[in-house]
Amino acid sequence: MLKKITVNTIQNYKNNNEKFSVLTAYDYSTAKYIDEAGIDIVLIGDSLAMVALGYETTHSIGVDEMKIFTKAVAKGAKRALVVTDMPFLSYHTDISSAVLNCGEMIRLGANAVKIEGYSDYIIEVAKRLTTSGIPVMAHLGFTPQFLNTLGGYKIQGKTQEATEEILKQAKQLENAGAFSLVLEMVPEESAKYITENLKIPTISCGAGKYCDAQVLVSDDVFGKYSDFKPKFARKYGDMKTLIIDCAKQFNEDVKNGRFPNEEEIFKLD
Ligand code: KIV
Repeated sequence: MLKKITVNTIQNYKNNNEKFSVLTAYDYSTAKYIDEAGIDIVLIGDSLAMVALGYETTHSIGVDEMKIFTKAVAKGAKRALVVTDMPFLSYHTDISSAVLNCGEMIRLGANAVKIEGYSDYIIEVAKRLTTSGIPVMAHLGFTPQFLNTLGGYKIQGKTQEATEEILKQAKQLENAGAFSLVLEMVPEESAKYITENLKIPTISCGAGKYCDAQVLVSDDVFGKYSDFKPKFARKYGDMKTLIIDCAKQFNEDVKNGRFPNEEEIFKLD
């Protein structure tokens, strides 16, 4: 049996200068195949609001929906560390409900949770989660749940000053117990500087090659989601075309009487 990846494995990767990989998954089979492929962390990203449920932003998804997807992914991913992205407002109102909501994800099979942003309150949340046995992946730079306060999809940490500010926040999250940090849409040089000055691993989401790990949305990697492609995403396949081709062939076979054939039916004894 393959050895389960834990937060210690992730820290060892950083200590040994070994890169690791993170992909999102939202369903059982995808999680299973990603796991089989050797991806280290499977993230049930709240990006699923857009790519799996068709919403415009991540704001539209709630805790109850994330629970369903967490359960499915956790059943599929046996080796990878399973991380649930905590949705908008699920950890913001008070620390008790943050711990309860995050704890529910662990009960359903997640090994850690991801929370976005920085404030004195978020630091407290990170501390309380960690001391409750819930590992925390932090997320700075562009944080989609703050889309409206940030004023759009904007690159963060574009100056030396802004980079220092992200590093300051990252260090506080590290001290609060976070085991890793996603840096989203940050210039490569800034991400390099932040990575070199942290003990915990950084995970790039459009933050260049110097981070300790890379994360992408699996639907972008597989070429399945086609409404929008971020500049930093790389398409390794064309699932959209594959799905359309298969559906077209099935449609034609049904209409021409070629489906089902003799092997695809049951007969009386
Ligand atoms: O929601 C998501 O998928 C994410 C990652 C891409 C970092 O937050």
